[in-house]
Amino acid sequence: MSKQIGDDVVLARELVKKFGDFEAVKGVNFAVSRGECFGLLGPNGAGKTSIVKMIYGFSPVTSGKLEVFGEDIMASGRKIKSRVGVVPQEDNLDPELSVRENLIVYAGYFLMKKDLAKKRAEEILAFMDLADKSGEVVEHLSGGLKRRLTVGRALINQPELLILDEPTTGLDPYARHLVWQRLRKLKELGTTMLLTTHYLEEASQLCDRLIVIYLGEILEQGAPQDLIERHVGKEALEMGVDPLRREALIKGSEELIKARQELGDDLIIFTDYGRELAGRISERAAGMGILLNYRRLRQTNLEDVFLKLTGETLKQN
Ligand SMILES: Nc1ncnc2c1ncn2[C@@H]1O[C@H](COP(=O)(O)OP(=O)(O)OP(=O)(O)O)[C@@H](O)[C@H]1O
Ligand SMILES: [Mg+2]
Repeated sequence: MSKQIGDDVVLARELVKKFGDFEAVKGVNFAVSRGECFGLLGPNGAGKTSIVKMIYGFSPVTSGKLEVFGEDIMASGRKIKSRVGVVPQEDNLDPELSVRENLIVYAGYFLMKKDLAKKRAEEILAFMDLADKSGEVVEHLSGGLKRRLTVGRALINQPELLILDEPTTGLDPYARHLVWQRLRKLKELGTTMLLTTHYLEEASQLCDRLIVIYLGEILEQGAPQDLIERHVGKEALEMGVDPLRREALIKGSEELIKARQELGDDLIIFTDYGRELAGRISERAAGMGILLNYRRLRQTNLEDVFLKLTGETLKQN
């Protein structure tokens, strides 16, 4: 189907955010289509929160164009907010209220009638699997439950666009999977999602398309698998090679190598040659009298793309 005007739920053109003289977002361009899950992937300080805060109307645009549902965010902020759900990076639940009360109070910001608010709260408690915690005071909840409640709270106005700023940071793997499962369900139900993350697995699991963002700039954008294949091919061979012989091995194997990275004592070779590669490289190395300390063939992933683009691993502070 061809793309139609108004299909973009979010449209950013040369979008800039400055704090004083410091440019945190340096003129980025991207568009989020209806129904997709769009990711902003980047390390600490990349500018992810600065971008999403402008989209949910919390922080003014310094310059450039930012449209949500085809309307200028600066001119129509209030109208837009009623159609957006927000999970901020920092939890801002009311710790003294119960789980259910947090939902009902939040519904008040959307001027929702009490009866409707109560009905929506019950639906959300069931959907987020929080029904048996509904009477608990929030300050007694675990981090995972709080995050689930924050996601649930963002659904109170049945948003067409759900913005999630690091929805699972700090959660254990089980709690993280529970959130992912619910987000997948919401996507099936047609909700457009924009999420920031520095978890590569989260980006690969949930996002249809993503931008890789670093120091306020977009380094790449596309579907996770396309980015992987474009930059690093399908397989990576990790090996330990004497640093003094590394260049020789690389030169002697050039036609097998799509990209490479050197990390400490390790050499990582990226390729489309599949399983054959490990054998071929070993043969070359043996032929040149180069000892490989170890060898491990694995599938490539977004971390490899990130490493290739920035020279850094995507670790969190
Ligand atoms: N209110 C502010 N005043 C000054 N500088 C800020 C402000 N908010 C953010 N910054 C700076 O802007 C840059 C981008 O920050 P931002 O919070 O958008 O990054 P992020 O990608 O969300 O990082 P994280 O993964 O840590 O949440 C950082 O260098 C940060 O220090
Ligand atoms: Mg952030």
